[in-house]
Amino acid sequence: MRDSQLRQEILDWYDRFAREMPWRIAPADRKAGQVPDPYRIWLSEVMLQQTTVAAVRDYFHRFTTRWPNVRSLAAAEDGDVMGEWAGLGYYARARNLLKCARAVVEQHGGTFPDTYDALLTLPGIGPYTAAAIASIAFDLPETVVDGNVERVMARLHAIETPLPAAKPELTKLAQALTPETRPGDYAQAVMDLGATICTPKSPACGICPWSTDCVARAKGIQAELPKKTPK
Ligand code: ADE
Repeated sequence: MRDSQLRQEILDWYDRFAREMPWRIAPADRKAGQVPDPYRIWLSEVMLQQTTVAAVRDYFHRFTTRWPNVRSLAAAEDGDVMGEWAGLGYYARARNLLKCARAVVEQHGGTFPDTYDALLTLPGIGPYTAAAIASIAFDLPETVVDGNVERVMARLHAIETPLPAAKPELTKLAQALTPETRPGDYAQAVMDLGATICTPKSPACGICPWSTDCVARAKGIQAELPKKTPK
């Protein structure tokens, strides 16, 4: 009961306040039957690893203009892709990007596989990216856990165990809340919440859809969570 209320609250919030992103289908368009392009979801998620949404926008636009689908990217010259990647950093990501595009063409006929396990076998796709593509592109109930999601879960449930020890517990809590319906919108909603409201410093609890559910807020300790083991 409580979980279903939490899901409803954040999905209602996402319906009103989802951030616009060039690869994202707006909630209303998704309800009207539009589906995301797995190629664009994959490309955006690889670019977003260690890079902000703001920094990714222009790169995403240039990549998708030049290589609009996975077949065109797979056929690109390595040097051209590395050149367009310049500035995004972490060049192993760009090399894996090409390897992955070629594997999708050679092993999957140019169509991204639509299960978590099959996605995980592709170059450069780890648990985070596999869950992101499975949920966002294919609406499968896989759970995306990044730093935003960990922070939101730690506060919602007032988990005072420090990171990284708290990771398994936070992952379990995130999994338990993942809905069977609209898991893709749900995954993006929690990431948006962490990026815009449940921020590391001075979270905007006054406008949070989970403010009355948040155990950390009830205790007044939200800004102290998640705790971190000193390095
Ligand atoms: N960060 C990484 N992927 C994201 C997504 N799909 N939505 C919002 N923030 C993100």
